[in-house]
Parts: sequence; C-alpha cells; structure tokens
Amino acid sequence: MHNRVYINDVAARDGFQIEAEFVPTADKIALIDTLSATGLAKIEATSFTSPRAIPNLRDGEAVMQGITRTPGVDYVALIPNEKGLERAIACATDEFNFVMSASDSHGRANLRMSADQSLERFARMVDLAAGESGFLNASISTAFGCPFEGTVSPERVLDLVAQLEHIGMQGVTLCDTTGMANPHQVGTLCEQVRRRHPALALTLHLHNTRGMGLANALAGWQAGVERFDAALGGLGGCPFAPGATGNVCTEDLVHMFEQMGVATGVDLDALLTVAATLPDIVGHAVPGQVVKAGPSSRRYPLPESARA
Ligand code: COA
Ligand code: ZN
Repeated sequence: MHNRVYINDVAARDGFQIEAEFVPTADKIALIDTLSATGLAKIEATSFTSPRAIPNLRDGEAVMQGITRTPGVDYVALIPNEKGLERAIACATDEFNFVMSASDSHGRANLRMSADQSLERFARMVDLAAGESGFLNASISTAFGCPFEGTVSPERVLDLVAQLEHIGMQGVTLCDTTGMANPHQVGTLCEQVRRRHPALALTLHLHNTRGMGLANALAGWQAGVERFDAALGGLGGCPFAPGATGNVCTEDLVHMFEQMGVATGVDLDALLTVAATLPDIVGHAVPGQVVKAGPSSRRYPLPESARA
C-alpha cells in the first residue's frame, strides 16, 4: 500500500460531457485554472470526440489552448480514434487517454467499435503518436460490469490489458462505468493486473452509482493502486451507458485518504473552495458530501443546555 496517491480530476471531461446544459468554454477554462492550483497530479480537461456524439465537449481545442498550464500538472484528453489523437497532438496534450470498452455492447453504443476494433485502431494510433511526448494511456470502460451485458469476466479484462501493453500503452485505467463493481472484485482484479504488469501505470476510474465508490477506491489502494480518477463535486457519467451517474467525488476521496494519513498532494481547503463554486457553474446541486458537511475536523459549539 502506498502512502502517496495521485489524483486525476475528470470533472471537466466526464462531468461536463453529461450535463444537460453546455458549460460555457470560459467557465471550463476558469475551473481548470483554479483546479490547477490545488495540487492535483492531473486534470482531464476535455475529450477529442465527435461533436455529434459529445456536443458538450465540442470546444476541446479552445479549452486545451485557453487554459494556463501549471508545471507539475499533466493535462489529459480522452480520445477514441486517430482524428481525436491528431487534435490532441495539435494542442500539445500531456496525456493521450485512448478509450475503449471491455464489453462489445457498450463499445458499439459509445464508440461504434468492438473491443477488437478499438485495439486495431489503438495500434495505429500508437504509431501515429511515436515521437510525441504525450503519455500513452488506455481507459477500459465497463471493466467491472456492463449495463447491457452484465458480468464482464476478469479474464477478458486481463487479456485486454495484456494486448494494450503489448501494443505500447504505458498506462491502463480500469473504469467502472456505471458503478457495478464491488470492493472484493476491485481488489482482486487490481491485484492481478499489478502482478502481471508491474511496469504498467494502473489507474482506477470509479463511479459512485451504487454508493460503493469510496469503498472501491479503498479496496484498490489496498491492492496497491496509487492513481485514481475522480470528479470534483461527484459530477460525471457516460451519456451512452444507461443509468450512469457521477464519478467518485474528488474532494471526498482526498478527504478520505488524508484522514488515513495517505498523502494526495492536494490542498483540501483549496479544493473545497473550488468545489463550492460548482453548483453555480452547472446550475444544480452536486453529490459531493464533504463540501456540505465540512471536513471531519469541523467542530460545533456545545449547546447551552449541555454545558456543565
Ligand atoms: N473528433 C472530431 N470529429 C470526429 C472525430 C473526432 N475524434 N471522430 C470522428 N469525427 C467526425 C468525422 O469527421 C465525421 O464527420 P462528418 O460526418 O462531418 O464527416 C463524423 O464524426 C463521423 O465519423 P466516423 O468516423 O464515422 O465516426 P462514428 O460516427 O462511427 O463515431 C466516434 C465514432 C468514436 C467518433 C464517436 O462515437 C465518438 O466520438 N464517441 C465518443 C463517446 C464518448 O466520448 N463517450 C463518453 C466517454 S466514455
Ligand atoms: Zn467515467
């Protein structure tokens, strides 16, 4: 178990992609810029997807080029295909996060591609990215269960991870797209991936759809995972996965780890200040809990009636 974890905030991508209203480009840029000062390791700023598939992120270039890059923070973009990669390269994206699905049903619904078709594309995209400095990561959606097919076998996921490493990916993210994972399942699969692929950077991307998000993060950490995706306020969800809801909430995850004595590098107070601005940005209440309850260090005056 690591005493330091690294967090990638995906609110600007996973969060804003599913909002009912388009978040103005200037608001996206301002949010990313304030998040950049909180100590996060990475910020997933946008996706370079088809604007017809994900209209909310049609401003990917403007966001990537409009933000102020803070040294030490890696700016990530989600990419489904060659065209997305070309756009990401043109914007000097620090990390190319190739996305595919473990289940062919979700792959076809989300990307119009089976897992094999994504893998073929990724091999070509790795060649295209040769000579670029961007880190090569692959996110595997529905790695712990698919809303169409149900169970996704760990053997299938392990086979995909092996193929991804073979074609040259430097990191893999296991995504629980609709919060179907349980802590036992997360611990077991993460442990197997780490044992078989010690050189691969492993990240967990969890959704809190069934209230198991933090428990799953803890199970992953106990299995040796040190990288986590999370979304400010607990925003998030895939528009092509029925029933999808928000990611594990970044400030709640930071609070949990810091309370346990595991360093996140993040200034929780600064993060909470940014989180408090989210409802105004998206126009509705958000699921995060610590921003409402305050950190567990919060104290209240004893009521008069209880004083000795
Ligand atoms: N960026 C911008 N435009 C893109 C693009 C990209 N990465 N990829 C394809 N397009 C455009 C094409 O240029 C084409 O435009 P045209 O009709 O004006 O010529 C159109 O989209 C269709 O291209 P095609 O290659 O046939 O794509 P598709 O319709 O089969 O869709 C994806 C495949 C992957 C592009 C699309 O499903 C997608 O972007 N999915 C992303 C889903 C997502 O992000 N989900 C949430 C995160 S998990
Ligand atoms: Zn997600």
